[in-house]
Amino acid sequence: MERLSSKAEIRGAVLAAKREGKTVALVPTMGALHEGHLSLVEAACARAEYVVVSIFVNPTQFGPGEDFEAYPRDLEHDLAMLSAEGADLVFTPATTAMYASDAAVTVDPGPLGALWEGAVRPTHFAGVCTVVTKLFSIVGPDLAFFGEKDYQQLQIITRTVRDLDLPVKVVGCPIVRERDGLAMSSRNAYLSADQRVAATVLSRALDAAGALATDGGRDARAMTAAMRAVIEAEPLAALDYAAVVDPVTLVELDTVEAPARAIIAVRVGDTRLIDNMAITPGAER
Ligand code: PAF
Repeated sequence: MERLSSKAEIRGAVLAAKREGKTVALVPTMGALHEGHLSLVEAACARAEYVVVSIFVNPTQFGPGEDFEAYPRDLEHDLAMLSAEGADLVFTPATTAMYASDAAVTVDPGPLGALWEGAVRPTHFAGVCTVVTKLFSIVGPDLAFFGEKDYQQLQIITRTVRDLDLPVKVVGCPIVRERDGLAMSSRNAYLSADQRVAATVLSRALDAAGALATDGGRDARAMTAAMRAVIEAEPLAALDYAAVVDPVTLVELDTVEAPARAIIAVRVGDTRLIDNMAITPGAER
């Protein structure tokens, strides 16, 4: 596995792979890798002959007072994991290489970027769209892999690629969960032992919504109320939002007539956790 930090070197390496007829996949990450990231790399290796993983803690997607400085970083550990998983190339750019000091042009995520996470983190998705578009431009992948854990991000990136005619296919991959249901996230490392136990409240709330759908329920507001009740019963958790939404427009639904998505954001102590689950009316779970 090769590690490169310059844009020119990355372009050269990818060009060489393409000249050999290889399909190129990109897995963008911010490092602090866990099994969820590795599942993306595994999916990429199954679909492409040349797999690039980027590790870049992107400052522009963190708002003032957010955890950019504290975000976990462990490059040596990440590189060992990626090598074992079979990645071909790791791109580790410096911030100065990614952003000119007077960089001023950004990618606007459109109305989807103002909903849910965007309402709480108003500049977040512009930062994500900008860095992901730049990574696509630098690496030039045929395929790019993102986790469904950041469901709104996945929808916004899919929309960005469509609306800007970017020549890459976005592939969404299922959420990877701990044995007790907690969705894997680099931010889980912030949780104390008590908070870690309490954090299972997100998946329990989503399960409560899903159970109503399995039982034939179609009332999205009742599903939201069920999620809210589970969160309110957990003293260490505070609800930011819970909703059942259209899986593409992310608009909140009153009734579930077709596959939908339950989404939830919860604060456990100072840590903000998000999770989501497919809601399929009448389906066995
Ligand atoms: O999901 C993430 O880790 C980040 O938002 C991403 C896509 C790597 C962009 O910085």
